[in-house]
Amino acid sequence: MRRRVFESYELLSAAVAQEVLAQIKHKPDSVLVFPTGNTPLGLFKQLVQAKRLHSADFTYAQFVILDEYADLAPGDPRSLTGWLKRELLEPLNVSLSHIHGFEEGVTKMESAISRLGGIDLAILGLGPNGHLAFNEPGSAFDSRTRRVELTPESITSNAVYWGGEDRVPRHGFTLGLETLAEARSLILMVSGAGKAGILEQTLNGPASPAIPAKSLRILTQAVLFADQAAMG
Ligand code: PGA
Repeated sequence: MRRRVFESYELLSAAVAQEVLAQIKHKPDSVLVFPTGNTPLGLFKQLVQAKRLHSADFTYAQFVILDEYADLAPGDPRSLTGWLKRELLEPLNVSLSHIHGFEEGVTKMESAISRLGGIDLAILGLGPNGHLAFNEPGSAFDSRTRRVELTPESITSNAVYWGGEDRVPRHGFTLGLETLAEARSLILMVSGAGKAGILEQTLNGPASPAIPAKSLRILTQAVLFADQAAMG
């Protein structure tokens, strides 16, 4: 995994936005994966602004959902797909037929990715416990898309989004580590001093499923985009 470090969160967000815009310019029907969470919000703003200024056209792009809570009723406001739609996909005017979620199950998700020709660019966030999407500590590096149980650490970190741990679903769906490793390009986006410890552990020491993000280290198509604060 190569590394690019930026002075501020704004510069980091702008640089990742440039990568996404270059990708759709080069291949308008790119298959893209975006994370939810607080880290990508600056990136989403930049992309929505680029679309408003008519410098970006997402009409032909396809969007594969990275992870989602399980067992939610339709329309549940905690849906991660719903979050991504509100913050990014609706402002970008993406057609529903270009959004590929977990509604039909994990096997159908893997076949949808194959049918689309594979993932061109996946942007990922780093969990405080080293998770990648809902690939929690202990996930095998060759894991595929599946249903998972959330760890107590992820329930705690997700509680800030929904106003308490009791509001966080206990199970989720996630693209697998190997499924992600097959993407043509991967960006791990990390910001803030609060992530410095887990990022240091991700980048150093022996590879181990205890920190799923370590699975990216051997991937030549993966790039870490971090701000100075996250680098410690
Ligand atoms: P965050 O979440 O961007 O809100 O820090 C990252 C993650 O848990 O994957």
